[in-house]
Amino acid sequence: MSRPAAGAELFGVRFRNPVLLAAGTCGFGREVSEVIDLDALGGLVTKSVTLEPRHGNPAPRVAEFGAGMINSIGLANPGVDAVLTGPLPWLAAHVRRARVWVSVAGHTVGEYVELVRRIDGAEGFVGFELNLSCPNDSRLGGRAFSLDREALDEVVRRCREVTERPLLAKLAPNDPDLPDTARTAVAAGADGLTLINTLPGRVLDPDAGSARIGAGQGGVSGPALRPVGVQAVYAVARAVDVPIVGVGGILRAEHALEYLRAGASLVQMGTASFAAPRAAERVAERLMRRPDLPAPWGAGPGGVPGGPSTAAAGLDTVSSTQESA
Ligand code: FUM
Repeated sequence: MSRPAAGAELFGVRFRNPVLLAAGTCGFGREVSEVIDLDALGGLVTKSVTLEPRHGNPAPRVAEFGAGMINSIGLANPGVDAVLTGPLPWLAAHVRRARVWVSVAGHTVGEYVELVRRIDGAEGFVGFELNLSCPNDSRLGGRAFSLDREALDEVVRRCREVTERPLLAKLAPNDPDLPDTARTAVAAGADGLTLINTLPGRVLDPDAGSARIGAGQGGVSGPALRPVGVQAVYAVARAVDVPIVGVGGILRAEHALEYLRAGASLVQMGTASFAAPRAAERVAERLMRRPDLPAPWGAGPGGVPGGPSTAAAGLDTVSSTQESA
């Protein structure tokens, strides 16, 4: 009889469950630590760090619409100097079991390389998520890194040269050939892929015609993005042989399971946490009660079967119309 999973080894470390908090949705962990038990999660990805402090885009930066949310934060963050002296030491001292990834973003290849090189020596994190696909912040003089093969190859290859830590490349959904982009990132040295970033969009006030967020254009997340993310994972999992982190529209354990069945090894949650801060904890707990998780969480290769509980499958009991965790 199959038993609930206990954890999985990925990127050279053990994850206690597949659920991570997505970049930009939990600050640097400390901001949410009073309400979320971070160590109950598989991990978290920090806010994207840039070389210089960024104040972000004009308010309002987020707006809800019927099928999700649109945001244009503008990668607001205190900059690498401040992150190295405040948030990263806090994470190293306070997070024990959740696996921390540091997200980095820049306008040029050189900025990514410098960020990775400078942060590499810090403690308390597993690896880097290269944010190569932010729809609200452009590469100097061109398309997002993930939408330009040469730029993508160069940025991943150059970052690979300056760190031995695992590198995740976060790719964009508005890519005409995502499997091929994924192959480029892996050939350049990415150890895994995060699929997907938000989808460029715009929400207008129908009467005034004005945009609902200050920057006008933004990135769409939430339930509307889930089929796009699941398809991205499904297609890319058949093109490359590295772990995939699926993200987009996960509100409930079944949604996470969709991603795992499509081929993801880990998932990230973001938008759901804004409405229900403990959503990711609940999804992780419910997911890990299931005896039928695919590898690496189930009995397949890489999985560590046999959790502390052998309780019956923890199927979510909310109806399919109740979009809560
Ligand atoms: O506006 C933002 O900070 C969004 C970042 C992202 O989606 O990567």
